[in-house]
Amino acid sequence: MIIEGDQMVRIGRRTFEQLISRDAIDHRIGEMADDLTEQYRDLEPVFIVVLNGAFIFAADLLRACALDCDIQFVKLSSYQGTSSTGVIQQILGVQIPLRGRHVIVVEDIVDTGRTLKYFAELLRKEHPASIEFVTLLSKPDCHETRFESPYIGFEIPNAFVIGYGLDLDGRARNLDSIYQLRDESP
Ligand code: IMP
Repeated sequence: MIIEGDQMVRIGRRTFEQLISRDAIDHRIGEMADDLTEQYRDLEPVFIVVLNGAFIFAADLLRACALDCDIQFVKLSSYQGTSSTGVIQQILGVQIPLRGRHVIVVEDIVDTGRTLKYFAELLRKEHPASIEFVTLLSKPDCHETRFESPYIGFEIPNAFVIGYGLDLDGRARNLDSIYQLRDESP
């Protein structure tokens, strides 16, 4: 990975240009955290962070939320799963009962929306009091199912993005702002 100033990144034959700066991310996360703090003040919510991509976003967002809350992590490697209880528990990776709790799922990006749709179905079986989704990015042009949330950081065009937790084959997660694929030389 070659970082050229703060505007351009090269990975192999791909060139990326900055789409959202670190300052803009910080500012928006502050707003989202204030909204969440206000909304969930006395509800002791359970945040469920979807790994891997959301790890940096979640670390910044949750430290900015002045809330008494649980924080759990799940890894959703695929949205195709089985409905057998044992396997669902393993996929969920949630260590505490969710029945009656206010659940907030933290995602990096909603693209087709398949991952969140699948996860929402798993969560509903646990009978939480409520389920809400927080995502740093959303690509509305790509959604296959309706996705609505008051907690969307930025709506972006249909482009591949990296940085701030988002990767290209495991690389570039550590960039501190978001970059969009500009071109790919043959
Ligand atoms: P969905 O199920 O299509 O909404 O995809 C969700 C997952 O795909 C996200 O949590 C990301 O891990 C990954 N993803 C989608 N778009 C991008 C992108 O532009 N860059 C990096 N990862 C992405």
